Parts: sequence; structure tokens; C-alpha cells
Amino acid sequence: MRISGKIARLARSLSSSQASPDDVWAASLLTPEERAVYLAMDPRDREHAVRVTQRVWRHCPDAPAELLAGALLHDCGKSARRYRVWERVLAGLVPQRYSACLPWEPLQIRAWHPQLGARMLRAAGGRERVAQLVERHHTPGGDAHAAVLHRYDDLE
Ligand SMILES: [Fe+2]
Ligand SMILES: [Fe+2]
Repeated sequence: MRISGKIARLARSLSSSQASPDDVWAASLLTPEERAVYLAMDPRDREHAVRVTQRVWRHCPDAPAELLAGALLHDCGKSARRYRVWERVLAGLVPQRYSACLPWEPLQIRAWHPQLGARMLRAAGGRERVAQLVERHHTPGGDAHAAVLHRYDDLE
């Protein structure tokens, strides 16, 4: 992500009242079980997720329904902890490769949110393919749809 993108995202993250995710549109792409997980996300994360999903949809009009749902839910693991701007800013200053080994919960959430999110979705009864895409959105490996999600998330 470019510096200007990071600054814009930081500015948007300062207050949840500035976020206005299109939850009606998002809900139309999710099962009732997935919708509950989506609505538990912070409004700022939902707004980010809707933007990523709209990019995926615009650039890949034939995207399968599970990819759009995965885009909406890709960061749902972050809702394992309350959204605190200062924690996210500090965590963002630590290089990703060190996040997993430092014993500070915000860093652990950042490092493991794909796995946490996939676990949440499976526990809630979401579609298995959607959980897989959430799990792989930072490390797609050979999964072409997870790679699409990773690319548009990174551009956001
Ligand atoms: Fe993520
Ligand atoms: Fe994201």
C-alpha cells in the first residue's frame, strides 16, 4: 500500500461515526450466519471491506459469490478485540514479520486475524469456501481467488 493510501486509511480510522458502510448491499451477498459475523465488525472495518468488495466486483464481474462474501469478511478476525486507533497505529509500525513473535495482543490479532476470522466463520456456520478465502487473504499460495482478494485489499 502506498503512503498516501495509508494516511487516508488512518484518517478514516480515527472515528467510527465517520464510517458509513453499505450494510444493505453487503448483507445481500451473505448468508444469515455470515451476516452476523459481518455486523459484529467495527464500522470502519466494514467500510474498508465494502470498498475492497466493490473493487473486486468491478474488476472481476464474474467473481463467484463466495469470493465477494470472502472480500466482505476478510478482516472479520480483527473483531476478536475492540477497535482502538492507537493500538492499530502502533501495531502498524511493527514490521509484519515480527508481529507473530511479539507478546502484545494487538500484534497477535494483526498477525493471526486471517486464521481467527476463518475460525469465527466456521463456528458461526458460514460457507467453508468463504472461511478458506478469509484464511488465505494474506497468503494466497496457489489459490487464485485468494490472490485476487489479496491484490485488491492491498490496493485499498
Ligand atoms: Fe487482513
Ligand atoms: Fe483488509
